[in-house]
Amino acid sequence: MTILMFEATDARVSSRDNTSQHVKGARLMDAISVLTDDHHKARGLFTAFRAASEADDAEQMGSVAEKIFEELDTHTAIEERVFYPALKEAGGSDLEELTDESNEEHHVVDVLMKELKEISPSDPAYPAKMTVLMENVEHHAGEEEKEMFPKVRNIFSETQLKELGLALHREKHVYRLENKSVDELHKEAAELEIAGRSELDREGLVSAILSEYDV
Ligand SMILES: [Fe+2]
Ligand SMILES: [Fe+2]
Repeated sequence: MTILMFEATDARVSSRDNTSQHVKGARLMDAISVLTDDHHKARGLFTAFRAASEADDAEQMGSVAEKIFEELDTHTAIEERVFYPALKEAGGSDLEELTDESNEEHHVVDVLMKELKEISPSDPAYPAKMTVLMENVEHHAGEEEKEMFPKVRNIFSETQLKELGLALHREKHVYRLENKSVDELHKEAAELEIAGRSELDREGLVSAILSEYDV
């Protein structure tokens, strides 16, 4: 039932604005598909960054890097908040070890992103640092796909994986909204035609927007 509600919401929201990218694709996707799709998206952006770097196009490097940071920030947040805790709770020592290692790898990526955000894409250190970041993420995502996800498939049922997929999808919205200013939240509430939005504070706006997406 919940999944059908998602499908209806998808059609309504995707006709409106750029928030559609956060909603599309959520329907009927299990947790592993949600996360693997994110990995593929990151790999695509890495290819675009390498092309911009080859062409010595600092402006394009900066613009692709911004998208990479946004994707990685969101992806690591939903894994840390939803996916890894669920694995730790359900799995044995094997999965616990893998999630602990993953959290540490996220930390390295986080440090690299912070350093990159402080320098200009035209700085000679920028592409070198980005290369280390991308190689780290490629290694980490490969390990998740080859080692962690097959173990997860063995432990969780299809239904559980779909429920987890929806929880990940919800957390993407929560994370996205957390990073918006109150003005931006008001703008989104207006786009969604939420009644009484002018009376709402930050918390009220977030909760009204989330319920518009049925998450
Ligand atoms: Fe991860
Ligand atoms: Fe991942």
